[in-house]
Amino acid sequence: MLDDVDHVGIATTDLEAEVERYRRAFDIEPVHRETVESQGVEEVLFRAGTSYVQLLRPLGPDTPVGRFLARRGEGVHHVGYRVGDIRAAIKHLERAGLRVIDPEPRPGSRGTTVAFVHPKAMGGVLVELVQEA
Ligand code: CO
Repeated sequence: MLDDVDHVGIATTDLEAEVERYRRAFDIEPVHRETVESQGVEEVLFRAGTSYVQLLRPLGPDTPVGRFLARRGEGVHHVGYRVGDIRAAIKHLERAGLRVIDPEPRPGSRGTTVAFVHPKAMGGVLVELVQEA
């Protein structure tokens, strides 16, 4: 069911400084930048093989990533797994008794469709299912 790691989402208060850190550390350039209003974030993606590093800046304090930063500080926010059929994956998780935050998948960045699984259902890790366009 899990085709690949799609991305590792990293929360940061200073997006430009973090972009610069990744550029310098790994000698790579960002491949995508997008503001996703519905998720309250601006994101920058770097490619890592078939996956991405996703740097996230909250659009305000009263957003999921804004609240995460206030509570936990900067660092890994979530792991996105690529799936072939997101609706089938959601059904499977629900049948297994795991709490899905988005029973109805919603638009992500890059034209993807996404759904989050509650971290309490996944050992403290916020998991995102990602179906490519
Ligand atoms: Co994500």
